[in-house]
Amino acid sequence: MPLYPYPCKTRPYIGPPGPESPDSPGQEPSIQMPRILVTAGPTRESIDAVRYLSNRSSGKVGLAIVEAALGLEWPVTLLLGPGTEYPPSHPLLKTLSFTTANELQTLLEAKWPESDILVMAAAVADFRPKCPLAGVKMKREGALTLDLEPVEDLLAGLAASSTPGQIRIGFALEDPQDLLERAGRKLRTKDLDLIVANPLSTMDSDSIEATLIHRDGHCEELPGPTSKKEFAKWLLERISSLMHTCR
Ligand code: CTP
Repeated sequence: MPLYPYPCKTRPYIGPPGPESPDSPGQEPSIQMPRILVTAGPTRESIDAVRYLSNRSSGKVGLAIVEAALGLEWPVTLLLGPGTEYPPSHPLLKTLSFTTANELQTLLEAKWPESDILVMAAAVADFRPKCPLAGVKMKREGALTLDLEPVEDLLAGLAASSTPGQIRIGFALEDPQDLLERAGRKLRTKDLDLIVANPLSTMDSDSIEATLIHRDGHCEELPGPTSKKEFAKWLLERISSLMHTCR
């Protein structure tokens, strides 16, 4: 099955805006590639002016997916969290930075309607400090209790605004003993097309052991620990065939 050129079902990619954009009279879209939106890296939620809550996500999987997608000449929008490596510039890549889950949510709401595929590799906070102390540094005064409030599930929140043909892919980083069961539950509660289940050992590693669970419950497994770069190519092949079967 060819990976590209890919004729998109819902909103074909018709080139960047400018003098040769489709707004120009007589200009027919020539190449139609799926537009992929990738999120990568951690969120940071402020506690006070100098401290924050975050996680150990390196953003490596997301960046490998960006590289693989650019290799297929797919236009990519990358939403990139703090403290991660920055990808090399590329004419088909637009990178936008976020720090907090709220900022990521705003970017997702702006970019998802103009995308065909979402790969949500960002490690989003589940909780944030309820009353961060802006511009103030907390003093050490004995024990401290942080009051946290839940962060909205950004991926689940996009289900309602998605249109037929758009594909949403999530990640589930879990304890190995109940990896597939928990990942399968997330696939259903977040209403995803695919979820990548991977054990906690993936974090900080250059390799990944992943099982892909499809909406209909069938699974595809990587043959063993695989480099994140190879995993990204493997995942895009699966996304590609999923898009062809959806047509
Ligand atoms: N996710 C999200 N918004 C959140 C938390 C997670 O969009 N507030 C996304 C992640 O980017 C990932 C998927 O949901 O693609 C699963 O994230 P994970 O942290 O494994 O699951 P949670 O739903 O947060 O459940 P839990 O932390 O309880 O395992």
